[in-house]
Amino acid sequence: MTIAEQEFKGRKLIVIGGTSGMGYAIAEQIVSAGGDAVIVGRNQEKLDAASAALAGKGTVQGHEADLSDAQSVEKLVEVIRTDHADATMLVNAAGVFAPKPFLEHTPEDYDRYMSINRATFFITQAVAANMVAGAKGGAIVNIGSMWAHQAVAATPSSAYSMAKAGLHSLTQHLGMELSANGIRVNAIAPAVVRTPIYEGFIPREEVHSAISGFDSFHPIGRVGTPEDIAEVATFLLSDRAGWVTGSVWDADGGVMAGRN
Ligand SMILES: NC(=O)c1ccc[n+]([C@@H]2O[C@H](COP(=O)([O-])OP(=O)(O)OC[C@H]3O[C@@H](n4cnc5c(N)ncnc54)[C@H](OP(=O)(O)O)[C@@H]3O)[C@@H](O)[C@H]2O)c1
Repeated sequence: MTIAEQEFKGRKLIVIGGTSGMGYAIAEQIVSAGGDAVIVGRNQEKLDAASAALAGKGTVQGHEADLSDAQSVEKLVEVIRTDHADATMLVNAAGVFAPKPFLEHTPEDYDRYMSINRATFFITQAVAANMVAGAKGGAIVNIGSMWAHQAVAATPSSAYSMAKAGLHSLTQHLGMELSANGIRVNAIAPAVVRTPIYEGFIPREEVHSAISGFDSFHPIGRVGTPEDIAEVATFLLSDRAGWVTGSVWDADGGVMAGRN
């Protein structure tokens, strides 16, 4: 790990989608560097397991919320307002991914992605309002996607990518609007990263080899790990990135530079 010991001491991070994959890895790096973390996920068992695993490293709280359920989002927003007004870091990592041709998308498929964006918008608004009121500044990192920059024939994802392109745009707008309050807002656009998200459409026993099939797609020669993304995210959350805002960083093994 490259972040300094205790670099995040006294700072609280909220990770929406912090129970596995990139969100979990980011929470792990922050608590290991002295910060506190609040992790949010939909599956209570996963939430309990992730909270227990992180608790050995630092102070962690878990909150169950389903971003596709407006009432659940309202409750979470209330918890953020009342219990976590001191958070100066937010990571929006919640997401689902199920490639499907454009002509086969149903309204439910579309809503699945857009409801996560809607929730992200209002959760971010609540956290940013707290940051403004707290007058200590803050840092927000949104996990976007390489698929919002370019389409990949093997993984057609029109609605998913439309949502992620919106998240990239939100990043730019908030970077601009919140800069006067000392709040930086950036996004990361990963290519293929080995996480449980692929279990949503590939049988679990086949996921490892299916993802490995994408190694050569990346100029660097391998798919990414959650830790690859966490390294970038924790840098963007840190004061070391104090002059970076409104940006969308390609953390993609070189895919946006070119393909093998
Ligand atoms: N892995 C990749 O190759 C890749 C590439 C580009 C971008 N991304 C993006 O990276 C982000 C992180 O994904 P990951 O790959 O780390 O996958 P992951 O391990 O499946 O993590 C996704 C997280 O989002 C949470 N989540 C999903 N739907 C939710 C909902 N409706 N309400 C509340 N929480 C919800 C999950 O919690 P539960 O399990 O409890 O639902 C989990 O904590 C996502 O936004 C994804 O789109 C991934």
